[in-house]
Amino acid sequence: MSLINKMQITFPSRSVNEGFARVSTASFISQLDPTLEEISDIKTIVSEAVTNSIVHGYADREGEIIISVYIYDNRRVRITVKDRGVGIPDIKKAMEACFTTGSEDRAGMGFTIMQTFSDKLKVRSVQNRGTIVTMEKILCPRP
Ligand SMILES: Nc1ncnc2c1ncn2[C@@H]1O[C@H](COP(=O)(O)OP(=O)(O)O)[C@@H](O)[C@H]1O
Ligand SMILES: [Mg+2]
Repeated sequence: MSLINKMQITFPSRSVNEGFARVSTASFISQLDPTLEEISDIKTIVSEAVTNSIVHGYADREGEIIISVYIYDNRRVRITVKDRGVGIPDIKKAMEACFTTGSEDRAGMGFTIMQTFSDKLKVRSVQNRGTIVTMEKILCPRP
């Protein structure tokens, strides 16, 4: 697997930056000429991961969120979303559908959505150190 291109952005955990993260990731990926559906999938998974860092990771303070996007050969895209927030005590439990530690307006479906719209999802987290979500998506071949 050889790296073709990469980018990284860092921004404070303000909800206004969620849209920025989503659009800038999609914009970087656009060099692969993705389908509208692939762009939409990528926006969705970035949006879920960034929202989690904002509302859960940095629930009671502002902190930095770092997104890295890597483009490998064969149209393989890897996106990592990292925070240095509170971390997740039980990752397996957190990834179950409908599990949330948030208020009642949260559906607990974020990780399920990330799983559905990516080809691979990995979550690493240490309590009081932070969380890193790695998602991979392989784009369809283009003529
Ligand atoms: N970056 C994060 N930092 C701390 N906790 C997180 C993070 N991302 C997810 N979690 C935990 O995992 C749970 C499930 O996340 P998710 O599936 O997106 O559902 P929701 O955001 O609706 O609660 C959250 O309620 C929270 O407890
Ligand atoms: Mg969520």
